[in-house]
Amino acid sequence: MRKVILDVDTGSDDAVAIMTALLCPDLEVVGICTVWGNMNVDLTTDNTLRLLDRLGKPVPVYKGCGTAMVKYLAPRCASNDYKPVFKDGKELKIHYDHLEGLEPTDWKEEDMDAVSFYVNKLRNTDEKLTLIPVGPLTNLGEALSIAPDIAENIEEIVLMGGGEDIANVTPCAEANIWHDPEAAQKVLDCGAKVTFIPLDATHSVALDLEDCKTLRSLGSFAGDFAATMTEQRIEYEHAAIGPGKISTAIHDALAVCAVIDRSILTDVEEAHVEIGLDGYNEGETIVDHAADPADINASFAKKADKKMFMDMLCRYLKEGK
Ligand code: BDR
Ligand code: CA
Repeated sequence: MRKVILDVDTGSDDAVAIMTALLCPDLEVVGICTVWGNMNVDLTTDNTLRLLDRLGKPVPVYKGCGTAMVKYLAPRCASNDYKPVFKDGKELKIHYDHLEGLEPTDWKEEDMDAVSFYVNKLRNTDEKLTLIPVGPLTNLGEALSIAPDIAENIEEIVLMGGGEDIANVTPCAEANIWHDPEAAQKVLDCGAKVTFIPLDATHSVALDLEDCKTLRSLGSFAGDFAATMTEQRIEYEHAAIGPGKISTAIHDALAVCAVIDRSILTDVEEAHVEIGLDGYNEGETIVDHAADPADINASFAKKADKKMFMDMLCRYLKEGK
């Protein structure tokens, strides 16, 4: 069984990723770190705890950083104002502050924070751990700054972030990387194996309303809940982007599926990846496909297998009663 740590900003697609990881018998989730991103870290932590309580999975949760390593200390970035989207007088969101269908919980996070957890766990493990960060990389960036030696005990970092042909917060940047570019660069420089699951790959396996019906037909809480998250995203994107948009990428769940079975990634390139740290390129994943082999520092997935993605989601989510 592969031991993994999730790092989440829960978040509609994070929630599907968490369920997939916890319900897959091939993964042992040894801890879940929370981070700011889709909303503030109190809310992302609360959503994570509510979901674990509903699933009856008492995995330890470590609350992490509430803001980026550098960015807001020296603001110099383009603004990223999301324009509110309304339908029939109601404001639509891609991530509601409290995810629909989850009751308040008295489950609590651990006393230890996420950065300390990374350092302690990775320094004291007898087997290497796989990390699956699907939010801004702040917790890991901070941990690597304090304790660069922890990289030796990382089996691999499979992160959702970046995009080469697709961006979602600026003309060239994806949200998780854009939120904390310095942390992302720190992760790339740490020496551990890094695999990007960028927007190019996640959009290649976008889910539509037919897929939502399939998820609901599983007859499980997890299937219903994943369908609700997906429908809300489709409703938002349909209203925000226009009538052509009838599918949505459940980004973070693809990162989990890629850890479970790498063959879901059908086009992966070895490349040198750098993060844009300033100006117009801030948060961009700059991918050099012609890099000298000695400079290759990441695998960058461009496409995935849609049928396999749905099959995997169905297999695991039907177990979440
Ligand atoms: C990423 O940003 C967040 O909004 C999602 O949860 C996902 O991790 C997609 O750009
Ligand atoms: Ca996320």
